[in-house]
Amino acid sequence: MNILVIGAGAREHALLRGLSLDPAHPSLHVAPGNAGMTRLATVHPLSVTDAEATVALATEIGADLVVIGPEVPLVAGVSDALRAAGFAVFGPSRAAAQLEGSKAFAKEVMAAAGVNTATAEQIAPGASAEDIEAALDRFGPTWVVKDDGLAGGKGVVVTPRREAARAHVDSVLGAGNPVLLESFLDGPEVSLFCLVDGETVVPLLPAQDHKRAFDNDEGPNTGGMGAYTPLPWLPEGGVERIVREVCEPVAREMVARGTPYSGLLYAGLAWGQNGPAVVEFNARFGDPETQAVLALLRTPLAGLLDAVARGTLAQQPPLEWEEGSAVTVVLAAGGYPESPRKGDALAGIPADEDQAYTLHAGTAAAADAAEDGSGYVSAGGRVLSVVGKGGDLAQARRRAYGLIEQIEMEGSFYRKDIGAAAEEGRISTP
Ligand code: GLY
Repeated sequence: MNILVIGAGAREHALLRGLSLDPAHPSLHVAPGNAGMTRLATVHPLSVTDAEATVALATEIGADLVVIGPEVPLVAGVSDALRAAGFAVFGPSRAAAQLEGSKAFAKEVMAAAGVNTATAEQIAPGASAEDIEAALDRFGPTWVVKDDGLAGGKGVVVTPRREAARAHVDSVLGAGNPVLLESFLDGPEVSLFCLVDGETVVPLLPAQDHKRAFDNDEGPNTGGMGAYTPLPWLPEGGVERIVREVCEPVAREMVARGTPYSGLLYAGLAWGQNGPAVVEFNARFGDPETQAVLALLRTPLAGLLDAVARGTLAQQPPLEWEEGSAVTVVLAAGGYPESPRKGDALAGIPADEDQAYTLHAGTAAAADAAEDGSGYVSAGGRVLSVVGKGGDLAQARRRAYGLIEQIEMEGSFYRKDIGAAAEEGRISTP
């Protein structure tokens, strides 16, 4: 079985690792990939929004399955072009990916499906200063200001400072995009990934991301600095409730609209007074939660993604998981997220083990690349994700931090508190 994975981050590295462990031993290709993936897959150059080039690459490889990692090619319709050319694809159509591509569309679907979410109001480019101020008056005291387009997880500002909210509104409108103002949802956040094939919904383990750059949730929002799974504080039956109240109604609504969803539906939720409420949907695996979630998946990944792509998810046996916990911690380049430094040398990356290993994101091979974990340089904001597994969250955290502490890179930083609040029992639902 030839599998082509599209994408270049640690999420795609985690997908490749999972696929490489499948007993079917698929032959793996990735595009555009990164320097750390060469041991698992053949790396091909690609512009991920170029549908024609993606079809040409899948044809050249003889791909039996194409797995699309990031949102940008999904929203650009790359999956539609691949399906039209006869390929099995893991990833929703352009129309279904609008659940992530347009937050206003997602709100409309949730309203039709009766799903609990924040109230929202759109400000269109060209709105007057008076209209913007009036809209800001209707929200607060914590403002949630979103770019109603794709921003790689970085287009959201959550702030108690009205002037900061206004500044973000101006910057998004200035870039020609509409703004979405949302009411602030209180309560701990949950990321629940579901495999969706029409009306069939199969949840993976729930996880929690850490979106702020620095410890204690301080600093700017990022694409995600670390995650852990499962969630010891989630009420019993919590996953089933999210599936019943959120994911299944949305899947049914997408079928009813004639745009059935096929792929991974990522529900980002806050667990508040009234239970789960949707913060946002994404049309793909989340990064970095995937690095932790797939670490515990026992069910062979290639067969599972292939079943979604071929519309046979309902016939799959229940998923199997390892007991225990998994934690991922992101090593970020100095200056991330505003202006990450590139070209810094990495050293001391330990050899991968079953319970603790490294996944690459923004790395490139240095001229003198070596097998001992030296020879890589930074090439992006999030450089590596390390993963630790264990019988419980404390052990998983110790293993992840034991690994990341050995890695050296000038100017780099990582959060020291990924999973700490959950380990210490400091998270509860209202
Ligand atoms: N975990 C945030 C994201 O994938 O967008």
